[in-house]
Amino acid sequence: MRRIHAHGKAILFGEHAVVYGHPALALGIEDAVVARAVRPTAGRLGISVPGWGLDADQDSPGTVGEALRRLAALLPGDAGCEVEAEASIPMGAGLGSSAALAVLMVRAVAEARGAALDDDRVRAAANELEKVFHGNPSGLDGTVATFGGLCLFRKAPWDGDAPSGVPLRLLAPNVLRVAWPAPPLVIGHSGVRRSTASMVARVGRLREADPTRVDGLFATMGTCLWKGLDALGRGDHAGLGKAMNACQEALAALSLSCPEIDRMMDLALAAGALGAKLTGGGGGGCVLALAPGREQDVLEAFRRGGFDAFLVGVHGPTVEGKG
Ligand code: MEV
Repeated sequence: MRRIHAHGKAILFGEHAVVYGHPALALGIEDAVVARAVRPTAGRLGISVPGWGLDADQDSPGTVGEALRRLAALLPGDAGCEVEAEASIPMGAGLGSSAALAVLMVRAVAEARGAALDDDRVRAAANELEKVFHGNPSGLDGTVATFGGLCLFRKAPWDGDAPSGVPLRLLAPNVLRVAWPAPPLVIGHSGVRRSTASMVARVGRLREADPTRVDGLFATMGTCLWKGLDALGRGDHAGLGKAMNACQEALAALSLSCPEIDRMMDLALAAGALGAKLTGGGGGGCVLALAPGREQDVLEAFRRGGFDAFLVGVHGPTVEGKG
């Protein structure tokens, strides 16, 4: 069997702002979901991820069943398959589990149907499934789930306005691969689940009420991204951490933090992190902490505080299991 896998994602900068056309910088969490078995069926599509307690097929109620029905109609052919997969990221924690599931299923069904899809078509199909999960996604999660690595993404194509002085490779019209290695990150899970769609809707309501303020916060987040990217290129971890903290302040001003995230910010910074921020939809989910050389201290601080935590390595793989 060809290896079928998908990445998770850790958004370093730009969540929510990306929905409104601003850029985002995100890191793929390598092999977040990997197919262990793909069994052919007459036509039915099914997926099980025991670690997530997920076992669904086309006839199942709920969003996974609906996504499978949409996928059955989306790709050419009618062969089916049942996929059994293993996950190394928690579900519904802001780490792109639904996008990873979508990319995995698209790749498995394309293989079962003999459809040769390049990565750009995989992410386009996965994005259609993401609409079932999240309503109107920016496309960031499906992009990172497909390509992995460090991606600079926005909705519109990069058209002669890509940042200069950064080693970039165009992966798709609106996706640039940043060739700098990302530093290890400690990821702590607040244990609080919030739907991305509801958090996106919350920001939408805030923006309707006060567009100037919200667009100003998005602009601040853009400044954090460019400062953070510049610091990353110079190996300036303190600068990158500062940009993450500033981004977190802007996200909190958009009511996207919560008491658990605030507590984890305090724990991370007290344990030696240079910077930390929530990642993804917010309102719960995960915190990313940058703590070069102090990763174990931050991991332990999160765990002592009652939060699950793990480490994402330089090129994305999870190097230590969930706590
Ligand atoms: C969710 O992982 C990221 C958001 O920006 C939503 C999106 O990009 O569709 C909050």
